[in-house]
Amino acid sequence: MTVGVGLIGAGVISAQYLANLTTFPDLEVRFVADIDLDRAKARAEEFGVPASGTTEQLLADDGIAIVVNLTLPSVHAEVDLQILAAGKHVWSEKPIATNAEDARRVLDAAEAAGLRVAVAPDTVLGAGLQTAFRAIADGRIGAPQTATTMVLNPGPERWHPAPEFLFQAGGGPLLDLGPYYLTTLVTLFGPVVRVSAVGSIGRPERVIESGPRAGTSFEVTVPTHSALLLEFGGGASAQATFSFESALPRSGFFEVTGTTGAIVLPDPNMFDGESALWTLESWKGYTGQDRPTPEQIEPVGPTSGRGLGVLDLARAIAAGVPERASGALAAHVLDVMLAAAEASEQGAAVAVTSRVAAPEPLPADWNPYERTLE
Ligand SMILES: NC(=O)c1ccc[n+]([C@@H]2O[C@H](COP(=O)([O-])OP(=O)(O)OC[C@H]3O[C@@H](n4cnc5c(N)ncnc54)[C@H](O)[C@@H]3O)[C@@H](O)[C@H]2O)c1
Repeated sequence: MTVGVGLIGAGVISAQYLANLTTFPDLEVRFVADIDLDRAKARAEEFGVPASGTTEQLLADDGIAIVVNLTLPSVHAEVDLQILAAGKHVWSEKPIATNAEDARRVLDAAEAAGLRVAVAPDTVLGAGLQTAFRAIADGRIGAPQTATTMVLNPGPERWHPAPEFLFQAGGGPLLDLGPYYLTTLVTLFGPVVRVSAVGSIGRPERVIESGPRAGTSFEVTVPTHSALLLEFGGGASAQATFSFESALPRSGFFEVTGTTGAIVLPDPNMFDGESALWTLESWKGYTGQDRPTPEQIEPVGPTSGRGLGVLDLARAIAAGVPERASGALAAHVLDVMLAAAEASEQGAAVAVTSRVAAPEPLPADWNPYERTLE
């Protein structure tokens, strides 16, 4: 048996999803919807999806069990509620919502209907991060205690043809990039209990640099540089910087330090990449020359890309077990990001009260290209 999938939002990221979802034998993509019907039709044709049209038409298809919501953050919750009201499970792009109340409404509606809501990122399920998680769980750095992460770039208006949403409520590097790095931190350390932060806007107006609207300027209404200090319930701490302000790109800088070693993880915005392990042991005998070289750890596991989480959701529903990229995890990460925004406005640390359990690791031999659902 294959699980029927529909996709709403045929924009930039839908191409990556469709390229993968159409290759997983457990899934069958049946419909692409968008408010722009031509765009939906073009995407459906590009990937051999048999039907396209409006959200209402998609939701009327009884063969669709999971709907992938790739619309904009400002309407994620509204579209999720529509999907749930039609009796279908949700996979939503991040962030789950732009405020905690909407996230709660979505999770409550799912619970009341006996349906699931799973949310991006699914990069945490990729071989790169899962291999690093296994090394940490195996004690390779001792007890993990602190982390440093940073992602800096000049901003997505260089390549996104409609980038305004990334500079307005629900966006900024904190809500756009934060989910990848914060979900990874929560997976490693458990829930965040307190956040301190500063945020700033470097350039209040930006100009679209690519696509048919190149040259159009737009207003920036949320911080484009956010620096956070995070405290976790278990006593760990982390610092995280998210910025659309830097001409010096730093993608996916993510390091975890433990009692006996440190590990450099691959970029949490990617599915692949090796890790580098440094141990205190390797410094023994160091005399000021020849620094130890780190051990490179090659990734083991699936590297297919966006859509892995949708497949995990389908398999988890069939098996009656929790999906890994849960809505509860996404809602906690949203709480952390909103607490950071509040902390930077108030100039004081803000407590985070929601709690969530870290998701189960993915088995190294988990194969997206195997048919598992009978
Ligand atoms: N672009 C990326 O590289 C990228 C990467 C990862 C995640 N995402 C996330 O994916 C989501 C979409 O991003 P994008 O870059 O594809 O945006 P986009 O603007 O290119 O596409 C969004 C699409 O959603 C449609 N849409 C908007 N509101 C709708 C509604 N109410 N009903 C039906 N369709 C609607 C729009 O017409 C548009 O075609 C965002 O949440 C973003 O954070 C984007």
